Amino acid sequence: MITIRATAAADMPAINRIYNQASVRRFTLGLPFVSLGSSMQFFKSGGPRTSLVACGPDGAVLGEASLTRCEAARRAHVGSLGLMVAEEARRRGVGRALLNALLDLADNWLNLHRLELGVFANNVAAIPLYEAMGFASEARLRHYAMQDGVLADCHLMARLRPGLAVDDSAPPPRPSPAPRQAFTLRAIEPEDGPALTAMMNLPGVRHGTLATPFLTEESRKHLTEPEAGIQTIAAVAQDKLVGVAVLKPGKGRRLHSAYLSALIVHDEWHGQGIGRALLAAMLETADNWLGLSRVSLAALADNHHAIRLYESFGFEMEGRLRADVFRNGAYVDGVTMARLL
Ligand SMILES: CC(C)(COP(=O)(O)OP(=O)(O)OC[C@H]1O[C@@H](n2cnc3c(N)ncnc32)[C@H](O)[C@@H]1OP(=O)(O)O)[C@@H](O)C(=O)NCCC(=O)NCCS
Repeated sequence: MITIRATAAADMPAINRIYNQASVRRFTLGLPFVSLGSSMQFFKSGGPRTSLVACGPDGAVLGEASLTRCEAARRAHVGSLGLMVAEEARRRGVGRALLNALLDLADNWLNLHRLELGVFANNVAAIPLYEAMGFASEARLRHYAMQDGVLADCHLMARLRPGLAVDDSAPPPRPSPAPRQAFTLRAIEPEDGPALTAMMNLPGVRHGTLATPFLTEESRKHLTEPEAGIQTIAAVAQDKLVGVAVLKPGKGRRLHSAYLSALIVHDEWHGQGIGRALLAAMLETADNWLGLSRVSLAALADNHHAIRLYESFGFEMEGRLRADVFRNGAYVDGVTMARLL
């Protein structure tokens, strides 16, 4: 008999042992020799995450699974899953039992509408399990992470609850573009806080990003005072902030990659080549100074201007993410794109 219960700190040695098993490492993003201390730190880091363990009749921990609610307010309907079963306990229904418990939690208690997970494309054990639980592949993420000495592909799989309303509202009308003005590029500085916040509160910016109405300057500190390693660029015209770009490098088995987490131009400064200049400068940094071979990004599926811009720099569509973001009272699809060198 398999018992499912919440993970406790006392389970961490057993979980750390499973996480260090070769076949678990292969199909997760684990590195060799993960210490108990770092597993413990991850467990204590809290956040909106539920971790469950499956135990055998003798109480031994056979596997662990977790569900993390997305912290971005407009993706609060999204949860992401992780799952591992000890090598010696496979094909006994442990994985299925853990997933069933998390799906019940997501559907009936947390009111999550979209569940997603990443799975290596060569994980022939996990993919059929996820498909049997209603997940479908939405994207194939090329060269997503290192696995056994090569850059391997992953699938982004998702499961939706039925009956979601989809937002197909037109974007707010854009003010006609001002005549072309000269602009310069520089790093984002802490003093940009008020202008950056004002720009992110514009309706056009909100329509195309994950911004919520009434953002505060405090909530933008991750852009004006970013963590080490995050690349930021500001576009300035007539002493006014008119655009920003932000690139977040990957960690661990994803050091070759980065994620373009923002490319934003002020509503009144569209059509002046500012977005193109910001993107060109960021990709020059990625290619020639960071040595990255994969840059990825997410966009809303109806953001055709942005998608065309990305395509002109060699970004290719990797998949369409159903009901990815909440916007203006309903859900809207996203797309995931990447440019490989
Ligand atoms: C994927 C994993 C969690 C499956 O756990 P499990 O407890 O062995 O799975 P279950 O016994 O509950 O099997 C459920 C279904 O999964 C599929 N499955 C599991 N192992 C399989 C295998 N080796 N080959 C093909 N299908 C397999 C089958 O559809 C199975 O249903 P069935 O037994 O009715 O045929 C486990 O193999 C594992 O921990 N692997 C390493 C870590 C990992 O890959 N985690 C997922 C990261 S995305």
